[in-house]
Amino acid sequence: MRRTTWWWGLLALSCGGSGAPEACPDDLTWETFGDAYMTSWCTSCHHPALQDTLRGGAPAGMNFDTYDEVAALEVLIRSSATGEQARMPPGGGPTAAQRDRLLQWLDCGLPRQGGDTPPACAPGTVAGPLQISTGADAERLCTEGSTVQGDLQIAWSGSIDCLCRVEGSVEVTAGGTVELPNLAVVTEGLEVVGNPTLQTLQAPTLQSVGWLEVRDSGLGRLQLPDLSEVQQALILEQLPLTGTLALDEVTSVGSLSLRTLPSLSRVGLSRLARAEGSVRLVEVGATELLAGPLQIVSGDLEICDNPALRSISALDRVTTVEGSFTVCRNDALQRLALGGLQDVAGDFVVIDNPALPTSEVEMLAERVTVVGEVQIEGNGP
Ligand code: HEC
Repeated sequence: MRRTTWWWGLLALSCGGSGAPEACPDDLTWETFGDAYMTSWCTSCHHPALQDTLRGGAPAGMNFDTYDEVAALEVLIRSSATGEQARMPPGGGPTAAQRDRLLQWLDCGLPRQGGDTPPACAPGTVAGPLQISTGADAERLCTEGSTVQGDLQIAWSGSIDCLCRVEGSVEVTAGGTVELPNLAVVTEGLEVVGNPTLQTLQAPTLQSVGWLEVRDSGLGRLQLPDLSEVQQALILEQLPLTGTLALDEVTSVGSLSLRTLPSLSRVGLSRLARAEGSVRLVEVGATELLAGPLQIVSGDLEICDNPALRSISALDRVTTVEGSFTVCRNDALQRLALGGLQDVAGDFVVIDNPALPTSEVEMLAERVTVVGEVQIEGNGP
């Protein structure tokens, strides 16, 4: 059940929108189609065993020999290898029908054999809005069903074992520990705002949320290991989170804001491939940022006031920032190493990073096409 995006497939099925497939045939899977397509048309350049010139110019590290890598770069594969504007493979080759089949497989949520079964929600739907204030409320919910149609407020600390799907928002106002062991989908927001008494929130099977907003709260532990899709904003602000923030299944976000998380030591976003809005990392205690194949930031990229961050080389695949690029007041930052950066549509601002060599910043600024203003000052020798 990892990295499943089956609900997109269901969506395509039920809406049948323009270009969406009529159906997702059982025999259209990674094993029967995706793997062979990549081998026929892509891995002659995009393969980890190929280095340097043997890659035919394909970006280093961008490989399509495993399901996980293909799944992580789904958005880019869709835009470069399907449709009439397809650029990949560069010399052409696949017929229009073969490309359509690729698109259909992507639209169906990249199914693979045995891998993509929807979470088994027990039958039964309960109408919201609903508030769980006591253990008895939780039990009552579970005798009626596992899907809530409407908003849900959780004001009771404990484990709501049956809850599987919320077609609305979930707000957690309870303190202590809240466990949602079977929750898979929240169609709107998952929110914890201004709740100083909540310490731990565990949703180990949560895969998709409309948005995630957790801020100004007492949360020290947040476990969302399966979260893969955040359609709108992912906001984590003003929290005493410690250790590693592992969001390593997240492949796409609307926007991303990690702010005032002073006790974090690492941030893991190793599969993030797409940010439809801004990406901000501000006042985060982490020394390390483990970023993924992120290439395009469709808003601002801001990295400021992170006292322990040493390098942002994890963002070296970013080619385009469609807003401003700002790196400021990071006391320990020694390297930018943004080898991939090509275009900044807004301002390029790198100021007051005392350990960052000014020469490296100037070299980067010279290489990158900046539409706005360039401001470089107060960096290191
Ligand atoms: C002959 C070598 C070759 C083959 C085969 C090939 N590519 Fe590429 N690929 C490249 C090169 C060169 C680039 C970088 C230049 C560019 O982006 O056009 C690239 C870049 C890409 C990118 C990143 C570009 C972007 O839009 O950000 C993606 C995604 C990609 N290829 C997907 C594929 C897929 C999917 C296939 C198979 C259907 C494929 N490639 C087959 C050479 C190849």
